[in-house]
Order: sequence, then C-alpha cells, then structure tokens
Amino acid sequence: MTAAELIRKKREGEALSPDEIHFLISGYVQGTIPEYQMSAFLMAAFFRGMNAEETVAFTHEMLHSGEVVDLSSIPGMKVDKHSTGGVGDKISLPLAPVVAACGVPVPMISGRGLGHTGGTLDKLESIPGFNTALSISEYKKVIAETGVVMIGQTKEIAPADKKMYALRDVTATVECVPLIAGSIMSKKLAEGIDALVLDIKTGRGAFMQEYDRAAGLAQTLVGIGTKFGKETIGFITDMSEPLGYAIGNWNEVMESVDCLRGKEVPDIMELTCTLGGAMVMLGKKASSLQEGIERCKEAVKSGAAYEKFLQMVKRQGGDIGFIEHPERYPVSKFSRTVTAQESGFVTAIDSLALGLTSVQLGAGRMKVDDTIDPKAGILLAKKTGDAVEQGEPLATFFTDKKGIFDSAAERIAAAFTIGNVPPKRTPLILSQVDKNGVKKWEG
Ligand code: URA
Repeated sequence: MTAAELIRKKREGEALSPDEIHFLISGYVQGTIPEYQMSAFLMAAFFRGMNAEETVAFTHEMLHSGEVVDLSSIPGMKVDKHSTGGVGDKISLPLAPVVAACGVPVPMISGRGLGHTGGTLDKLESIPGFNTALSISEYKKVIAETGVVMIGQTKEIAPADKKMYALRDVTATVECVPLIAGSIMSKKLAEGIDALVLDIKTGRGAFMQEYDRAAGLAQTLVGIGTKFGKETIGFITDMSEPLGYAIGNWNEVMESVDCLRGKEVPDIMELTCTLGGAMVMLGKKASSLQEGIERCKEAVKSGAAYEKFLQMVKRQGGDIGFIEHPERYPVSKFSRTVTAQESGFVTAIDSLALGLTSVQLGAGRMKVDDTIDPKAGILLAKKTGDAVEQGEPLATFFTDKKGIFDSAAERIAAAFTIGNVPPKRTPLILSQVDKNGVKKWEG
C-alpha cells in the first residue's frame, strides 16, 4: 500500500479500511508520510467525507497514537464535558467544580482559543500562578485528591491530533465533521473518562452555524462515544449571542466566580446546571437529569461549588488572592464604553463580530505565537431582549492597544441590532442527543 494510492482512493469517494487508515496515521506520526501527502489526504477527506466505520477507525488511530490514561484506581465514574467552542463560553469554569462538588470526579483536558472562540486554558492561565501543564502522573494525583483537574493537551495525549490539527489549521480543512469528530473524541477518550457530555454549538458564533450541520456533528460525536463504550449525551445549544456578559480571559474567570458565589446570570446558570445535571446523572450521583440539575443548583447555593473551585485553583498553583480581591488584578491601559445611538430593544448581538473584536483587543491570538493579554476583552451591558435608551451603555471594552481603539468601538456598536419591538425569546438549549437520536429539549 502507498500513501498516493490511498489519497487517490479517497479522492474518488471510496471508503478506506481500518488497515489503510492505520497505515496513513501511523506513517504520519512516525514521519514516513510527509505533510504534503497528509494535506492532500485531508483535503480529499474534506470533500468526500468518511462513513461511520471510517470515522471510528480514524478516531481509534488518533486515540492510540498516544497514551490512554487509566483512572480506574480512582473510585466513581469519571465524567467530562466538551464544548465545540463559542464566544463568552466560560462554562467549563463553573461547571467542573459544580459537578465535582456533587461527588463526580471531573478530569478535564482543555484547549486554547481557536479563531474567534475563547479557550478554557487561556482563561485558567489568566489566574496568576495557575499551572495547566501538569504531567500525566500529576494529573492523576490532583484528580484523586480534589476530584477535579483542568490541564492542557500533553505530548502523550493523542499526538496524531496535535500534529494533524496544526496542519488542518493551515490547509483549510478544519470544518469537516469526521475530522472534527476524530480530533475531539480522541482527546476526550484518552483522558480516562467513563462518560461524556457534549455541548454542540450552533448559530452565528459557532463553527457549525447551521442547526442541521451541528445536529450531524452531534450525532457523529455521540455515535463515536457510544461505540467506544462511553455513555455520551449531547446538547445542541444556541451561540447566536455571547454567553453571559463577559468576553475575554480574566473577566470571564471573574464572571464564573460571581456565578459560583451565587450571582444569577441566567444563560450561564441554565447551561452550567443542565450540562452539569447530565454529568451528575452519568456519574451515578442522580437518578434522573432533573435530579442532577437540582443537585447542581444546590451545590452552588450551599457554597460547596465555590469552595471546590478555590481548592482546585490552589492545588494547581493559582493565587486565590486575586480571586478573592479582584481589585488587585492589573487593569488595561485603555477602556471605552460604547453607547446606543437610538432607543428601542436589543434584537440581536453578533457573537462572531464580538469574538473577532475581542481577539483584536488582545484576548485571543491572530498568529499561533501571539501572547494573550488576560485583561483585554469586552463587558456587555445589554443582552438580547433588553430595552435600551439612546445614549445608554451597550458594552465597555478593555485593551492595551491604542491603535485599534476607534475601529473596535465601531465594530462593537455595529454588533448590536436595535429594533422597535422586543424580539421573540428563543431557547438557549435546543435539543438533546443520545444514542437513540436527536430530540427537542423541553427543559
Ligand atoms: N476542536 C478540536 O479539538 N478539534 C477540531 O477539529 C475542532 C475543534
């Protein structure tokens, strides 16, 4: 078998066997298949797709390109969550301690910001001292001791994905369901989990903007999890407007902390407690999703989730002094408040535009080696459905870059649509997906 033969086969729309997929992935990791042949294969797969068997074989090869962590010595079902990424999506920060406080261990390996979407690792690293680069043995120790650990992908976890992801990023082959599914699931399955909850985003700020494509991805992800023997539940959720009010890194940490301390930010709490409820149910600490949701609400109300968050931050080297006294945190050199040009109701907030603007302000990367400014970002003053008077604040932004000040203000103002009538309320959680298919979420 040669790489060229397999590229041709995929180019003609034929399915590859597990042996052929093994040949390609192992050859790529070992360096016998060069980047240019893998690029050609990825583009062929992008246009021709992969069937269910190929996607499972592809995930299997990516997973076994590295270490599969064994957490069986830690009692209980270990459950994680993965989001396909959004703007203001800080849900992992309150979620992991909430679920851990309910008695379900949460081993979480997260990613960095990608394009206009933020990354949990960048947010955690905005806490001075927080170490996301733990070795696998340290990762096991922390989860055993605190019931929650949040780190980044190590060189041992799915190295084929690490190499291939970088290549996909520069060959325009990211937005492809089987490639995304193999990439996400190989990393999650390598963490040592027993079950998984997925948050598949749709709408303007999501990678899969159209609902049907998000539903296709959700079914593929759930199908792979199930095939690998892990109970997997997905939720398709709306990413038309940012989640919560904060976009950026440190300000998202602080918004999460506020929620853990009991502040009611409705969309953040709805998503945290629904995804968390599913995790608690899969972790066998609740007999139904509804009971899981109630347990999560109780963990916030009692303060147990906030205590768990502080314990995790301390254990991973973070300085909780900044969490308890945020006024000590450095502030951006420049900030400006954008106000409404007319009175009415906010009918839409373009999350994609705000995500891109927040990257420009310094909260994300435009090039792989850019450094993140943890203070940079946007704080919304209004959300969709709110009434607004002319001259009232819509959002305030923070940056150390003076040059982009005016253009950022214009982009943020343009991201808000103001109309004369209040918009129809649309649900945040659209559907639930399990091995039996997709069903409308009834709340
Ligand atoms: N996140 C991943 O980890 N992989 C993808 O391919 C897309 C999003």
